[in-house]
Amino acid sequence: MEILQVPFVQGFIRMCQDGWEQNWHERNGGNLSYRIKPEEVEAVRPYFGAEQPWQPIGTSVPGLAGEYFMVTGSGKFFRNASIDPADTTCILEVDEAGEEYRIWWGLENGGRPTSELPSHLMNHEVKKAVSGGKHRVIYHAHPANTIALTFVLPLKDEVFTRELWEMATECPVVFPDGIGVVDWMVPGGRAIAVKTSRLMKEYDVAIWAHHGMFCSGETFDLTFGLMHTVEKAAEILVKVLSMAPQKRQTITPQNFRDLAVDFQVTLPEKFLYEK
Ligand code: 13P
Ligand code: ZN
Repeated sequence: MEILQVPFVQGFIRMCQDGWEQNWHERNGGNLSYRIKPEEVEAVRPYFGAEQPWQPIGTSVPGLAGEYFMVTGSGKFFRNASIDPADTTCILEVDEAGEEYRIWWGLENGGRPTSELPSHLMNHEVKKAVSGGKHRVIYHAHPANTIALTFVLPLKDEVFTRELWEMATECPVVFPDGIGVVDWMVPGGRAIAVKTSRLMKEYDVAIWAHHGMFCSGETFDLTFGLMHTVEKAAEILVKVLSMAPQKRQTITPQNFRDLAVDFQVTLPEKFLYEK
């Protein structure tokens, strides 16, 4: 067995390739992280290299003390992840204070984990707590339709959630809690990580205005599927807005309430406002 045959490593690499094929990862755009299960850490430990120095995370994540993550590298291209995972990704450990990390595998030609590591780890910390440990995947991408909408819709959670729900009947079932929106901010630091992780307490999706999207989920499939569903809805909305200034008909608030009963989801009333 090689490290690249370990199932979570294969799932991680496949997701990078899937995102590349969706055109969500121009150049080094986007990043992916996975919180590794204890038994999976043991499966990859035989492939760890020499001990490397601890490095500051740039924020504090005490709720992730001692956890291991697989993460894409900063400046690395998703396009190359499946061709050379040992160059483009890494496995790292978080220290007991949640302040520093060290790399045990990958980035073999040098480099650092994604510049969005503060956002990834703060989102993981929040999602681990609110999901009872179930959420393990945080995914950031640059999908064009979602980004385009941040230039024309008000940057409000209620508006993005409602407009995207209306674009496909499956949407409120796939993301019943809704979508959070972050105003334009400088990426790559602690401030945007704090804002995003606050939204992640409530939502599984956060949109960064004029930049991209973050999704959280239990598995690679569910997290990729969530990004895919939101971006597909955004594509439909872009088409609708391009065809006509107003919709002739749509899914109504009462339609959503009926759907919620049959599909056994709770849809917060704040998204079902009268327009
Ligand atoms: P990294 O190459 O550092 O992961 O940055 C890409 C990105 O999308 C920043 O938001
Ligand atoms: Zn980005």
